[in-house]
Amino acid sequence: MVSPIKKTFVVEHLDPELEAWSSLEYASIARESQASGVRFLLSSVPNTLKLPENLAHVQGLEVEHDSVENLFDKPRVCLLDPAATQELSPADGDKFDVFLFGGILGDDPPRDRTSELRKKGFEGRRLGPVQMTTDTAVRVTRMIVQDRIPLDKIPYVDNPEIKVDEHESTEMPFRYVLDKEGKPIMPEGMVDLIKKDSERGFGDLI
Ligand SMILES: C[S@@+](CC[C@H](N)C(=O)[O-])C[C@H]1O[C@@H](n2cnc3c(N)ncnc32)[C@H](O)[C@@H]1O
Repeated sequence: MVSPIKKTFVVEHLDPELEAWSSLEYASIARESQASGVRFLLSSVPNTLKLPENLAHVQGLEVEHDSVENLFDKPRVCLLDPAATQELSPADGDKFDVFLFGGILGDDPPRDRTSELRKKGFEGRRLGPVQMTTDTAVRVTRMIVQDRIPLDKIPYVDNPEIKVDEHESTEMPFRYVLDKEGKPIMPEGMVDLIKKDSERGFGDLI
């Protein structure tokens, strides 16, 4: 049974800048949230930060300058936290109305920047032991709490290889949901960005 309350998905933007990778992830979350009838809030966006074109006009995105702890009643908020001891379950869709994610680029090895939100005292749930990109974590959470699919029934792939040219490929050190064709679901434009960045070297942010 689907809960009648419209769920809110909040990504608390924790980086000082908004990298191209994040803006593709956020735009993808906005489009999917709009299509599935849930609310998507990007919180803690600095007043001085100018949103890139692809985000400024995307449907389904609400921008909030305030931080998440000033916006919602804490007991109704569930932090998706790779270090939590309990896995997210469909029943959490009845317990919580707001699902909170760190707006952080993935890093390898993970630096536990989700701790910045954990220390604010939100109750945490895990989505399995492997790091996901933020848009994947939102997608999986929506499938669990809105579509009521248990975590262990969601098809995924770990560390997929992206072909960057005829000879080389890049391994993405994350878990992704698979689509109907068995391909990892990534934001629109992400494969091109990966190819472009792989020509320059990724640095430590991926
Ligand atoms: C790219 S991950 C960042 C993980 C990161 N390396 C860190 O420093 O915490 C972005 C967000 O997705 C969510 N997330 C990713 N993988 C998760 C998992 N396995 N369980 C729960 N939440 C996850 C968390 O909300 C996390 O803050």
